[in-house]
Amino acid sequence: ESTLGAAAAQSDRYFGVAIASGRLGDSVYTNIANREFNSVTAENEMKIDATQPQRGQFNFTAGDRVYNWAVQNGKQVRGHTLAWHSQQPGWMQSLNGGELRQAMIDHINGVMSHYRGKIVEWDVVNEAFADGGSGARRDSNLQRSGNDWIEVAFRTARAADPAAKLCYNDYNVENWNAAKTQAMYAMVRDFKQRGVPIDCVGFQSHFNEGNPYNSNFRTTLESFAALGVEVSVTELDIQGASPTTFANVTNDCLAVASCVGVTVWGVRDSDSWRAQHTPLLFNNDGSKKPAYDAVLNALNGG
Ligand code: G3I
Repeated sequence: ESTLGAAAAQSDRYFGVAIASGRLGDSVYTNIANREFNSVTAENEMKIDATQPQRGQFNFTAGDRVYNWAVQNGKQVRGHTLAWHSQQPGWMQSLNGGELRQAMIDHINGVMSHYRGKIVEWDVVNEAFADGGSGARRDSNLQRSGNDWIEVAFRTARAADPAAKLCYNDYNVENWNAAKTQAMYAMVRDFKQRGVPIDCVGFQSHFNEGNPYNSNFRTTLESFAALGVEVSVTELDIQGASPTTFANVTNDCLAVASCVGVTVWGVRDSDSWRAQHTPLLFNNDGSKKPAYDAVLNALNGG
């Protein structure tokens, strides 16, 4: 196959991309995105600050722009993200305790009912574990509302859209030996044992000097899959875009039956939140980088 999406579809996987609504008027951008990818994640438009800027007043204008572009072009959509310490609107940042808990529940219900039946998988909870070696939960207003906030989010999400797969998503959890990875693993194992509804785990996979790719990523994916969840690479970018590393990540997903797909976090380097790292598959002029060829070759079984 000659595009990433078609090549991934050979093994019933998707190859996705983060789309920014503000770039949908750029035909170089949309031509590449439409040609190459068969799954879309809204880079910012379905986050809490975008979808509920005032308490109780939902706004799906930008989210729907991304959603409609994706569906009109035949792509599936990942939902990102419902409960997160970051990109909370001001009103939510100032809430705590039971009031915040209820606001989180209301937010999940409001967004998921708008997109009910339309989103293949939702990142229900994003980035709840602390960086470094502690293996602890990240401190946040959500965490201070009670350690059970994550399972409450998942139970709420299951009821709000029973058809959606419910994911936990985090970064710097690709290395099997990292404390953060092990903490996330223990949580997912506990959820599966206790029947908390969780279907998938997203590995953001922002690889850089601080979080270098390690070949034990495949062990990580296999270990989570063995717990009975689907796994996916949800926000892939690699500082310097080494073709070998891009191919390794792709092959790691292909090697794990429950790895359902890979999403890169932007189209061209200039679209990246880390543009100076040139971490993506396309140059600023829209031409393919060597990393693109490496990924396509891997997807084609090379
Ligand atoms: O849209 C406004 C614009 O009107 C304003 O002039 C400008 C000035 O700062 O800001 C613009 O908003 C920015 C937005 O991206 C759109 O470009 C925000 O400031 C900026 O904070 C926001 O950054 C996003 C970041 O999440 C916020 O946490 C990045 O685009 C987005 O790529 C990034 O994505 C996250 C994932 O959601 C979770 N995992 C990590 C990943 C990378 O940080």
